[in-house]
Amino acid sequence: MSIKRTDIPAEEIEKQLAICTEVRQRYEGKKPLALVDTFGCQQNEEDSEKIRGYLAEMGFEMTEDEFKADIIVLNTCAVREHAEMRVFGNLGALTHPKKENPNQIIAVCGCMVQQEHVVDKIKKSFRHVDLVFGPDELWRFPELIYTVMTKRKRVFAPGSGDGCVAEGVPHLRADKVKAWLSIMNGCNNFCTYCIVPYTRFRERSRQPEEIVKEARELVAQGYKEITLLGQNVNSYGRDLDCGITFAQLIRMINSIEGDFVIRFMTSHPKDANSELFTAMRDCEKCEKHLHLPLQSGSDRILKAMNRHYDTEKYLALVDKVRETVPDIVLTTDIIVGFPNETDEDFEGTMSVIEKVRFDAMFTFIYSKRLGTPAAEMSDPFTREEKQVHFDRLLEAQNRISEEKHREYIGKIVRALIDGKDREEGVLSARTSGGRLVRVISDESLIGTFANVKITDCNTWALRGEIV
Ligand code: 5AD
Ligand code: SF4
Repeated sequence: MSIKRTDIPAEEIEKQLAICTEVRQRYEGKKPLALVDTFGCQQNEEDSEKIRGYLAEMGFEMTEDEFKADIIVLNTCAVREHAEMRVFGNLGALTHPKKENPNQIIAVCGCMVQQEHVVDKIKKSFRHVDLVFGPDELWRFPELIYTVMTKRKRVFAPGSGDGCVAEGVPHLRADKVKAWLSIMNGCNNFCTYCIVPYTRFRERSRQPEEIVKEARELVAQGYKEITLLGQNVNSYGRDLDCGITFAQLIRMINSIEGDFVIRFMTSHPKDANSELFTAMRDCEKCEKHLHLPLQSGSDRILKAMNRHYDTEKYLALVDKVRETVPDIVLTTDIIVGFPNETDEDFEGTMSVIEKVRFDAMFTFIYSKRLGTPAAEMSDPFTREEKQVHFDRLLEAQNRISEEKHREYIGKIVRALIDGKDREEGVLSARTSGGRLVRVISDESLIGTFANVKITDCNTWALRGEIV
């Protein structure tokens, strides 16, 4: 497969930063405000931090109020139809603030706008949108905004498919404890249901030294948790001639001095291997959590999904990781109702989840994505039939998750206190395996590691006391 990759020269990013200064001057004497709303995955969250980084360079402060914002950016997700409908709903509602403030700039970016039919719809039906740009064009956001401001015309810049890699784009991170670190972008796997290979193009890994440099900076800034992000982190480095695998990258980051932990997502079962599991075992900073999307427990469906593994291989992998890292917490993604998924196929999924007993699971009803091979597959089953399967799966998983959580009661675990819980006076913390623990404590402990005695639980979270 040809790898399309365009490394953006450092001078180009400097040019963008110079444009930021020009924008800042245009707002001289005012305190401009920006709102960036993010849909979808962590990769999008990380992209939004870059958009906010550029906006901060332009002198913007952030707001949550769409009526006060001078610039609104919606960073969108195309993975399922539901997310797209929400974006269109939100976009429609933005006609009101725009009417009150005609100088307001509304931008839409992210995976959705990498689809031609979406861009056409925005062009025709959402005329209050001033700027559209794909994930690959993010590095030149300042230039695009500047064109909208100075020319007062609508700008459409969906990506060209060249697969850009840009270093040096500033970040504005909202969280002070946990940081995302994108190590690669794009996907080569073409699972037949998935739109991502079409919206984020082919895999491009960042150079290991750039990643390690960013990790060092994050540790120096006091971040306690670094999550390495990629669509399939286990194929990290394959497109570079650097000889560094993902497992080696973990080891390199693990050797950075400091009190912090490493997480990563997502791992594809076809590429997860012993080298990774041993690195997880050996690296004291690497948290013992593996998110390993199964998608289906039917070999027939896995083949139709183009996943390149069967249930036997998946179960062997689970055995292997449990043998190597005995306290590993396993989570997964399941799609229910892939085209033509029969009762028998679904029973296969039920059987695998009972065998593995995942700690937690993200379940989705299959959503048809235009342009993917699965969208062309016939499907005699109705949404109602799929919902019955979905509900059964969820019920089984909720039971298993709660049983797994019960096993923690009475134990003392190390957890990172990462913020305030919704409940007054309660803080949220994460165990090494990524399980949520609610603890009663004062805010001064946010950003520290604590030993927590687990006293209670439900399906979704543990409750504990600091010891
Ligand atoms: N329909 C439903 N779920 C999907 N996912 C990806 N594409 C689709 C789709 N078309 C799910 C997969 C993936 C997770 C991020 O989203 O389970 O692992
Ligand atoms: Fe989509 Fe499959 Fe790539 Fe994940 S590995 S982003 S599910 S194509």
